Amino acid sequence: MIPLILFLSLSVFCVSAQNDCPVQYTCNNTILHESEVENYCKEHDSQMNGRCCINNQTIIGIDLRFCEITQLNISQPVFSEVEILDLRDNEYEKLTPEELVNFLKLNYLYLPQHIPCPGGNSSWNFTSKDNNMTSCLDQLNPCESLNISCGEPDNAKCQHLGPGTAKCICCPGHFGYKCLNDGEFPTTIFTSSVICPTIVLSIALWFIQGRDVYKFNI
Ligand SMILES: *[C@@H]1O[C@H](CO)[C@@H](O)[C@H](O)[C@H]1NC(C)=O
Ligand SMILES: *[C@@H]1O[C@H](CO)[C@@H](O)[C@H](O)[C@H]1NC(C)=O
Ligand SMILES: *[C@@H]1O[C@H](CO)[C@@H](O)[C@H](O)[C@H]1NC(C)=O
Ligand SMILES: *[C@@H]1O[C@H](CO)[C@@H](O)[C@H](O)[C@H]1NC(C)=O
Ligand SMILES: *[C@@H]1O[C@H](CO)[C@@H](O)[C@H](O)[C@H]1NC(C)=O
Ligand SMILES: *[C@@H]1O[C@H](CO)[C@@H](O)[C@H](O)[C@H]1NC(C)=O
Ligand SMILES: *[C@@H]1O[C@H](CO)[C@@H](O)[C@H](O)[C@H]1NC(C)=O
Repeated sequence: MIPLILFLSLSVFCVSAQNDCPVQYTCNNTILHESEVENYCKEHDSQMNGRCCINNQTIIGIDLRFCEITQLNISQPVFSEVEILDLRDNEYEKLTPEELVNFLKLNYLYLPQHIPCPGGNSSWNFTSKDNNMTSCLDQLNPCESLNISCGEPDNAKCQHLGPGTAKCICCPGHFGYKCLNDGEFPTTIFTSSVICPTIVLSIALWFIQGRDVYKFNI
């Protein structure tokens, strides 16, 4: 069962090599100017393709200004390496940490001024509201910034999932409520983390979800 799921997920999630820009919003390019993402892209020897900045087949930036976004839906594996994201000039009213799960490398997030940084100032080292925008810079690991305790360190540990999101996961050999039960744990999940951390994360979480993981949203 587990190997099958691993295999299926590998085939779905490990397609990270990317030359296209799979942005599924309707964006108005005629009013696009002075792009933070484009500047960042130039500084990092990368190429813009449509709204994406691509570095060695990895999408590291997305400019989603003027895309008529009312509901965000960008937490996809293909964007998990994104470092800079511009979400200004759209219609949505709030941005929750859930919508940015997987964005572990996001260090430059620009939002309309009335939208606060997801996770607040314990999720970013610098937050500011000026020049008609909210800037959320330098992502923090909530496990550290909030000093989250998951109970006995041998049983469980805190795992950073994205801006303002972390989860307690059980260590191998432990499961159940607060990982207090001893027992067999499928070690394949952990050994394969070297190969493809993203899928392992989602599988491990899915797997452990049924076993009383406790999650934090800030
Ligand atoms: C894009 O924006 C320009 C300038 O505001 C406007 O004239 C044009 O109609 C817009 N195009 C679309 C498809 O909304
Ligand atoms: C691009 O990525 C591939 C595989 O991830 C790596 O082997 C290669 O060295 C990288 N090339 C550059 C120029 O970074
Ligand atoms: C979110 O994006 C995924 C992948 O592109 C798509 O399959 C799904 O239908 C989208 N969901 C919504 C609510 O737009
Ligand atoms: C500030 O941002 C809002 C929404 O993004 C936009 O409608 C408005 O024109 C901007 N104002 C200025 C002065 O740039
Ligand atoms: C973080 O936010 C809290 C509450 O809004 C505030 O009291 C605190 O001073 C802020 N800390 C920093 C470093 O900005
Ligand atoms: C936050 O920024 C300050 C000033 O640049 C730096 O000294 C500190 O190490 C940063 N903290 C983290 C957790 O990155
Ligand atoms: C973090 O939490 C642990 C256990 O709850 C405590 O021993 C430690 O002193 C705390 N560290 C900081 C920097 O607050």
